[in-house]
Amino acid sequence: MGWNSWNSFANIVNSQIVQQQAQTLASNGMKKAGYEYVVIDEGWWLGERDAEGNILVNAKQWPAIQPGQKDGDMANIAAYIHSLGLKAGIYTDAGQDGCSMYPDSGPKYMSTGSEGHYDQDFLQFSKWGFDYVKVDWCGGAKDKRSGAVQYALIAHAIQKAEKTTGRKLYFSICEWGSQNPWFWAPGVGENDSTIWRTGGDIIPPVVESLHDAEHDKRVITSGNVLESFEAGLHPEAQHTGYFNDLDMMVMGMRGMTDALDRTHMGLWVISSAPLMVGADLTRLSPATLSLLTNQEALAIHNDPYGLQPIKADEPTPGIQVWAKPMAIAGRRAVAILNR
Ligand code: GLA
Repeated sequence: MGWNSWNSFANIVNSQIVQQQAQTLASNGMKKAGYEYVVIDEGWWLGERDAEGNILVNAKQWPAIQPGQKDGDMANIAAYIHSLGLKAGIYTDAGQDGCSMYPDSGPKYMSTGSEGHYDQDFLQFSKWGFDYVKVDWCGGAKDKRSGAVQYALIAHAIQKAEKTTGRKLYFSICEWGSQNPWFWAPGVGENDSTIWRTGGDIIPPVVESLHDAEHDKRVITSGNVLESFEAGLHPEAQHTGYFNDLDMMVMGMRGMTDALDRTHMGLWVISSAPLMVGADLTRLSPATLSLLTNQEALAIHNDPYGLQPIKADEPTPGIQVWAKPMAIAGRRAVAILNR
């Protein structure tokens, strides 16, 4: 559970935005409800390295936050997130070129992936203080790699980094379901917990501060939410600690009504899917916030079995009953979906 920068900030993400979102998460009731990760997605790094292969970031985008810190050091923002009692997440690609070669906005950057630098980069993330890493697949797909192979190498690099720093680095696999990750991702690297994306992006990002024709026409529909839910159903692969990732949430974003927010929350919750909120947290309505922090819904989400539901019935076309067993013997969670 947490927040991810991509859906609302795409590649304009910077220190100020992340600080503001983290502060909001810590103070609006979400942290108290269990949302803990603040994940910085694509756009934080433009692909530069020094002669030793160390990642170099833009000093203006990631300046010092506290006295004694250096500009251009990702440890600054990780420390800030930790100072709020939250965990910090970062992002890279399994290939050599990352998704910045297909920019959503702004210029295109090559070499924003970690291939060739797995040990070095994952150790760096851990040394900076990050607790979570999302690893995308643009470069892996471009080079026609095997996801099972690359992600196992990465899992190994993560384990080595964890041994060196003593800090857990949660592994979030993002290859969009392109090579059936539900078959290999649960066991990758023998992690005690992993998530893997099951489909493409729920939406192209909607950046409210960008006013170009492309962004202005982006509106989220029920189809976006239902397709991600359906693409994510691989109940055979999911159990405690191993979760199909239906994608970052779009609750509270442009086009979402209160009814659609409720549907979205209900489906992600009964799926025990990662709840990574993608909205600009400073703009959440009281209704969206109260759904995101609804204790009964979160109790279903956090059921220790963490299973996915199956469709139990569709008594009328478009009215579906979804159900899953829960850890207390005999207890079921049930969702009634009006498509
Ligand atoms: C892919 C991922 C998204 C996001 C973008 C960044 O499309 O699936 O979640 O990380 O890359 O470019």
